[in-house]
Amino acid sequence: MNELSIPRPNNLDAFWMPYSDNKYFKDTPRLLARAEGMLYFTPEGREILDGTAGLWCCNAGHGRREITEAIQKQAAILDFAPTFQLGHPIAFEAAARVAELTPEGLDRVFFTNSGSESADTALKIALAYQRARGQAQRVRLVGRERGYHGVGFGGMSVGGIGPNRKQFGAMLPYVDHLPHTHLPEQNAFSKGLPAHGAHLADELERLVTLHGDTIAAVMVEPLAGSTGVLVPPVGYLKRLRELCDKHGILLIFDEVITGFGRIGTHFGSERLGVTPDIMTMAKGLTNAAVPMGAVAVKNDIYETIIGGTAAGIEFFHGYTYSGHPLAAAAALAAIDIHVRDDLPGRVRAIEDYWQEAAHSMRSAPNVIDIRNHGLIAGIELAPLPGKPTERANRVFRRCFDDGLLVRVTGDIVALSPPLIIEKSHVDRIFTTLADAIHKEAA
Ligand SMILES: Cc1ncc(COP(=O)(O)O)c(C=O)c1O
Repeated sequence: MNELSIPRPNNLDAFWMPYSDNKYFKDTPRLLARAEGMLYFTPEGREILDGTAGLWCCNAGHGRREITEAIQKQAAILDFAPTFQLGHPIAFEAAARVAELTPEGLDRVFFTNSGSESADTALKIALAYQRARGQAQRVRLVGRERGYHGVGFGGMSVGGIGPNRKQFGAMLPYVDHLPHTHLPEQNAFSKGLPAHGAHLADELERLVTLHGDTIAAVMVEPLAGSTGVLVPPVGYLKRLRELCDKHGILLIFDEVITGFGRIGTHFGSERLGVTPDIMTMAKGLTNAAVPMGAVAVKNDIYETIIGGTAAGIEFFHGYTYSGHPLAAAAALAAIDIHVRDDLPGRVRAIEDYWQEAAHSMRSAPNVIDIRNHGLIAGIELAPLPGKPTERANRVFRRCFDDGLLVRVTGDIVALSPPLIIEKSHVDRIFTTLADAIHKEAA
């Protein structure tokens, strides 16, 4: 079907592109016009292998007929109905289906429209919970350096990526950060979970000494993706869990990329053996066909907030599109595929092959670290002297021109393909990438 050509837009001016070098793009546009399975196609019909599942989100591959049909059908039945003080059937159905996949006890689901909204919603739930249980002094939120929790003021403040923060002033007050877990001297080229760094969780003890009983919650990604793939050290998350329990602090996992099979289980917490109190999700929830996010919380958190109010609205938060019928339909269809096709099982079946292929990049020039877990890999390149990010950007462009979509953050190439990937695609990803890295080193 790649003979199908789609007209290029005549005018690229009006769309202010998010997280983009608008000037560069508009001078040399690279457009994706169609997608199917593991592939994107440019407007001219040129094939691009998707090494990133879009933006870590099309886990079941592109253009899944079951999802498209579910959206079409739902649009004809009910385009929209509010979920403030009213309800429509499919939102309840979708929440129940999500709760079947979340760890036991995290059975209450709040719908949002994105990962950013999920992060801010999770933080607000944590604050409301602490207040409802008589701990109103717990107003502090703790994140981690290099953490990414989207672009709302909560997620951005608790997040720890400098460039995402520096244009926007003072951030939320009462926020502190744990150190990141990137220890290249000890852990470079680790396969899977790195051995060193569990002790970095103990920094929470130091923050408790500093802030006393004023910390409401700690939010981390169980495996940090957007910062350039930081896999949690062995024992780190367990330690964090223990310290949160010891000090009455809620543990929030931002599972926006680790949810829905990416590391070989429904959610990352399952594979990593640590259950949070609150969990965010988005992306793979609908296979990205319609925007949707969600926050799953422990039953006790829900009961405490709901039970803390005699009558009337218990939680003053929500979005017009929370539980939107088309998104709920897409979620139900995407979850059906996730379960029926056993996407987590597919990850576990191919992850060793993926790991070896990723680590074969070690011999390519300027590769200074490789990190991986499940169907994720980060290949870190030495920056060009005085020009950070430039080498990886060149590799990105060359890959695209050679028919492969990769993602770069800083000088790290991040890979997160659809979970339907076959060995032949794995080979093609790493052959094309190695070739691009070699050519850019020449
Ligand atoms: C861990 C994490 N949290 C939150 C977000 C933000 O999601 P969104 O872009 O849907 O707002 C992302 C996006 O990549 C993410 O990786």
